[in-house]
Amino acid sequence: MEILKIENLKKRFGGVKAVDGLSFSVREGEILGIIGPNGAGKSTLFNLLCGLMPLDAGRITFSGEDITSLSPHKRCHMGIGRTFQICQPFKELTVLDNVAIAAVFGNSKTVRPWVVKKYSEEILEKVGLSIKKDLYPAHLTTPDLKLLEIARALATSPKLLLLDEVMAGLLPGECDRILKLIRCINREGITVILVEHVMRVVRELCERVIVMNYGQKLCEGCYEDVAGDKRVIEAYLGREETGAQ
Ligand SMILES: Nc1ncnc2c1ncn2[C@@H]1O[C@H](COP(=O)(O)OP(=O)(O)O)[C@@H](O)[C@H]1O
Ligand SMILES: [Mg+2]
Repeated sequence: MEILKIENLKKRFGGVKAVDGLSFSVREGEILGIIGPNGAGKSTLFNLLCGLMPLDAGRITFSGEDITSLSPHKRCHMGIGRTFQICQPFKELTVLDNVAIAAVFGNSKTVRPWVVKKYSEEILEKVGLSIKKDLYPAHLTTPDLKLLEIARALATSPKLLLLDEVMAGLLPGECDRILKLIRCINREGITVILVEHVMRVVRELCERVIVMNYGQKLCEGCYEDVAGDKRVIEAYLGREETGAQ
């Protein structure tokens, strides 16, 4: 079954066509990878999906409902969760309170304080941050900030989770830890769209990969097919400055 369908999505910033007529569907339960050079429009696509930015044209259908004009909080309550490429914690709140805020405002099922606390602690346990629950974001390492970003998204109990470069800047061992976590989240039934530059992670996690370039879909297929595609090598993989690995 289809959980998400986007049709002819468009968004421009002045003269830049950040997303330019993009269409694709996501099956319930899959991990879809989105790759492409910097500036290809991947983060803008996530902003359009979660409603952070209005789109210029196109339609977004989620769980069979047209959500094109819905506000971000309504989309969140319907089950679209996301992380930000640049981590966005509340700096003045502890790790636990950052997760609790997401649970209270993102997940209407959880309102009683002790339920919220227990639920938030369970999520921190799952991502491996329990020991740091009373720290403030300023005291977290880069991998821990990424885990907090994932924990906050999970607290909203998403059906679809949008992960924007959660492995960027991490060492291979740290990537492995998050890779396992994403696999575990997916096995629990959460559909994932993964924007990622670390090719090993895309290869290991994604059944299907979409390559974006200049806001458009350059090609789509299994990892081996897209990684061997001449156009993809020219636009992305072959260029050393992309940081693709
Ligand atoms: N808020 C914005 N205002 C103006 N231009 C933007 C904004 N967000 C993104 N862009 C531009 O849109 C294009 C796509 O950016 P982005 O979606 O961040 O790409 P990616 O995530 O694939 O690196 C880039 O040319 C970028 O400079
Ligand atoms: Mg980006």
